[in-house]
Amino acid sequence: MTFRQFASGLTASFGLAWVAVVIVPFFQMRSVQPVAFDEIADGKEGIYHPKRTGRVANGAQVYAANGCYLCHSQLIRPTYAGNDLGRADWAGLKADEARGDTRRESNVFDYHGEKFAQIGVNRLGPDLSNLGRRVEAIYAKEAAVSPRTWLLTHLYDPRLDPKRPTSKCPSHRFLFKERAILGQAPSDPLPIPASAGSVMVATPEAESLVDYLLSLKRDDTVPASMNPAPVKATAPKAAAPQG
Ligand code: HEC
Repeated sequence: MTFRQFASGLTASFGLAWVAVVIVPFFQMRSVQPVAFDEIADGKEGIYHPKRTGRVANGAQVYAANGCYLCHSQLIRPTYAGNDLGRADWAGLKADEARGDTRRESNVFDYHGEKFAQIGVNRLGPDLSNLGRRVEAIYAKEAAVSPRTWLLTHLYDPRLDPKRPTSKCPSHRFLFKERAILGQAPSDPLPIPASAGSVMVATPEAESLVDYLLSLKRDDTVPASMNPAPVKATAPKAAAPQG
């Protein structure tokens, strides 16, 4: 192999990947325009505004700093590329009490307010795109605690949950501090074991990470033009045979 072949082979193998992973997405997404609802397809007019509440930015930093993205994705893949929409409650709730089926694919607006779109590196654990929704509608209710308490307990030690005795999600105990009770004991301490006369309290990092996790509700209604997921076909009722 000549040096020339080697150099061009090297350029092609790294250059192509760079173009596909960095350059093409950059030009596709650098000037994302607001998307309007269509009166016929969506039944309403106006511009789509991504809905996200909570301390998104601070919590996203804690999420990144602790490497959650190494095991958790935040990307509901398009239906042609996977079956994410079919996985229980990943893409939204299949049967939301108020809104019915809210499942949809991810879009660029879903990462609004975050410096980086933390789509993730691996999927060792469940996708977290709609974790806030799941915690509020399912996990916290099952455990009879508040969604915040459920998440804080999970962060401290996922295996404290009787339903997850062998969870592979790591403990993040360094996000908590043990504090001696001075005076009146807190009325609503975290359900985390602590030595006698003490309670476990969450650090500000843990609190903002939980704010961020609770904000993960990426199932608001988007314009039909942005959501190519197949809508369940409702076949028109066949007319009863006459005579
Ligand atoms: C080593 C890989 C790994 C890392 C790193 C990791 N997790 Fe997990 N996580 C998992 C696995 C595996 C599960 C599934 C087991 C379970 O339900 O506990 C999980 C489950 C979860 C769940 C429950 C999700 C659900 O719907 O059942 C939450 C919430 C969670 N992780 C949050 C986090 C956060 C926040 C971080 C970063 C601070 C993090 N994880 C880091 C592997 C990981």
